[in-house]
Amino acid sequence: PSEVKYSDALLAWYDRHRRRLPWRALPGETPDPYRVWLSEIMLQQTTVKTVGPYFATFVARWPTVKAMAADDIEEILKAWAGLGYYSRARNLHACARFVSDKLGGRFPDTVESLRQLPGVGAYTAAAVAAIAFNRHAAVVDGNVERVVTRLEAIETPLPQAKSAIAEIVQRLTPMDRPGDFAQAMMDLGATICTPKRPACALCPYMSFCRSRAAGTQENFPRKAPK
Ligand code: ADE
Repeated sequence: PSEVKYSDALLAWYDRHRRRLPWRALPGETPDPYRVWLSEIMLQQTTVKTVGPYFATFVARWPTVKAMAADDIEEILKAWAGLGYYSRARNLHACARFVSDKLGGRFPDTVESLRQLPGVGAYTAAAVAAIAFNRHAAVVDGNVERVVTRLEAIETPLPQAKSAIAEIVQRLTPMDRPGDFAQAMMDLGATICTPKRPACALCPYMSFCRSRAAGTQENFPRKAPK
């Protein structure tokens, strides 16, 4: 089967089983780049479950990037308390000010221009470009690494396998729904293709998955010997 079929099966699964997460636009809604950016910064080192209430508090208090930029860093830091990695909060505020003051409150819409913003690394730039702007960007987090190394039975251990994984994700990402594809891969990794005892029988990729065919799915991703 062609690779286009791979992503069709995943997107059909996503349309039925997507997680309802507070930062996600509903089907048919236009995503708000501010909310996508804020959620991806919060999710960098914090779980979906913990981020939920913080995200709700932040968007209630600062509904737009301009509202956040207009408030003091001390207020952001207080609201951030408990999320850890406080440099994220400082960068958040610096980024809000930059977007508000220099860009008229509009987030840039390409990977390269997003990458220039304070606190926005390669992962976050790709995630915001794909999810908020439907750019064809390869979004690779830990969940996606696990899905891809299992799908292709990649024997190279992490982190050496990272560039090969990014190339595969780039190839698998469909032109028409890159943002949904990225979020579908994250949901698949979080709910089906879990580290222990993955629920392969429910997986939309089951019939294409090399490690599943060999019964070795739990052995991926390979880890470098210590
Ligand atoms: N982890 C990081 N970004 C995410 C997103 N947009 N949805 C679910 N989990 C995530």
